[in-house]
This record gives sequence, structure tokens and C-alpha cells, in this order.
Amino acid sequence: MNSMQLNLTVNGEAKHWAIAPGDLLLDVLRREAYFGVKRGCESGECGACTVLVNGKPINSCLMFAAQAEGCEILTIEGVEQNGKLDPLQEAFLEHGAVQCGFCTPGMILSAKALLAEHPDPTEAEVRKALAGNFCRCTGYLKPVEAVLAAASAYRARAVGPRKEKASQKSKRKSQKAKVATR
Ligand code: FES
Ligand code: FES
Repeated sequence: MNSMQLNLTVNGEAKHWAIAPGDLLLDVLRREAYFGVKRGCESGECGACTVLVNGKPINSCLMFAAQAEGCEILTIEGVEQNGKLDPLQEAFLEHGAVQCGFCTPGMILSAKALLAEHPDPTEAEVRKALAGNFCRCTGYLKPVEAVLAAASAYRARAVGPRKEKASQKSKRKSQKAKVATR
């Protein structure tokens, strides 16, 4: 078997792995025990294999591992920090958005990429961001609620809970005013 070296960063740690040129990123990550990267359809449909590559959600079943040379990969194993769950993970648990859990790593990573770009997303933006992550159990409502709650928690962490509460209040007020003038 031809082999080559892959140099990349996974969850903040530098890795140097021997791979075959045709290895898929999904297979290499699972071989290296990142089992949160799920094998679903293997055809880019279900999103179970989602990881962040340089901050963007990617179906790892559609990417050759060799294409990840020099990239920064985030898997669900790297989302928790210093033994503390990420607000997204907490919100998924609190909102009942985790049932069998098979889709959850991919959903959380897609949501994480969304919130990094849009810290105050609309429900439509959350739905769009999760559109590539199939879930057979939850009906999507709970994950959407969880992402919106986590967005609020992230913002509160950045600006302080009081300011975040005030900003949500004024947002609701301006939405009401818009509805009233329609
Ligand atoms: S396993 Fe990759 S999208 Fe389904
Ligand atoms: S929680 Fe089971 S597939 Fe989403």
C-alpha cells in the first residue's frame, strides 16, 4: 500500500499520521478513535460525519484525508473545554434535543460554525444551518430551540447577562412594533 504522511491539527493538537492517498477523512478520524464522527450514509446526505475544517462544516465522508493537510479540524471531542460542556452541548441536553444522539455531534458542529459567524441568528438561519444534518428522532424543533438558547448564552458570556437580557427585550419590542405597523 502506498502511504503518505498527513500533518494536521485535531482539536488543538498537532497530529502526524500515515495514511493512504485514497483514505477518506471520516475513516482516518475514526481509525484514530474520534468516534464522535459518525458513519451514516457515506454519500454526503445525512451530515452525521460533519466536522469543522478551518471553521467550516464539512462532510468528512466526502473529503480525502490528504486534502486536510495543514488544516485545523474540530470534532465533537474537542468542543468541551477544560472538562466543561460548551453552551451548545448544555442547551441540547436541557432542551431535550438529544435522543438517540447519532446526529448530535454533527448538529452541534454545524451550529457552532453558524454561531461563530452569526452570534444572533434568526430561527430561519438556524434551520438553514442544520438543514444538512438529518435527525430521525427529534423532529428538529428541539435542536433549533437549543441552538437559539445557546446563542443567547454565548452572547451573555460575551457582554454579560444583564446587557444580553436588555438587548433581547429591545429586540422583542421592535419586533412587536413591526407587527403592529403591518
Ligand atoms: S456519512 Fe457523511 S453525510 Fe452521511
Ligand atoms: S437524536 Fe436520533 S437521529 Fe437525531
